[in-house]
Amino acid sequence: MKYHAIAIDGPSSSGKSTIAKIVAKKLNYLYVDTGAMYRAFTYACLKNKIDPKNEKESIKLIDKIEIDFNKENNVTLDGIDVSKEIREKEVNDNVSYISTYKDVRTHLIEAQRKIAYNHNVVMDGRDIGSYVLPFADVKIFQVAEVNERAKRRYKENLAKGIECSFEEILENLKKRDYIDSHREYSPLKRADDAITIDTTYMSIEEVSNNILKIIKEKGINI
Ligand code: DC
Repeated sequence: MKYHAIAIDGPSSSGKSTIAKIVAKKLNYLYVDTGAMYRAFTYACLKNKIDPKNEKESIKLIDKIEIDFNKENNVTLDGIDVSKEIREKEVNDNVSYISTYKDVRTHLIEAQRKIAYNHNVVMDGRDIGSYVLPFADVKIFQVAEVNERAKRRYKENLAKGIECSFEEILENLKKRDYIDSHREYSPLKRADDAITIDTTYMSIEEVSNNILKIIKEKGINI
């Protein structure tokens, strides 16, 4: 491949996006948040009054909308920045259903591959190393214990002024972990050649330095 790709996969709230952004900045690569694309499609369904649990109705929308990233690297739906809307509770509660649909995955995976064929990327998601970019130069599988992930998400929400209960977050994470790793098409799975990093007891700096070291050892210029 002409361009380099770093794949960072793992369960919800394992800190992938924080780390991927740091690594992308350090390498001067494009950061691609694939979860934001599934979220944007979920938001599109809700906006069009389609029940995201209804596969037949949801997939009808896939050829009618355009999901992309703008110059600020924020996700767009038909050219409009929806980066705030995709973090709302209704999207959180429904995105796991939407991301089980084969037609949705095929469509978004094609878009993700197109970006990677034209840029150096750090791409985060669930299936990047195992399915979307099997030839990625470096594959990281980033995990953390579910209680620690819930704690992080809870703190994040409080800082953003979002009201929530810790138990609700914990339950939502467990449910999403289950759906993400048990779906039929490209589930959350560690690629055979991925390096697992357990971030439960690590700081953000430790994780990013660790990954940058792995990238350097692969002979990629930093
Ligand atoms: O990373 P995130 O929490 O923003 O992702 C939202 C949802 O999208 C997540 O529950 C699973 C799905 N997803 C996926 O199925 N495949 C990806 N490559 C990225 C996200």
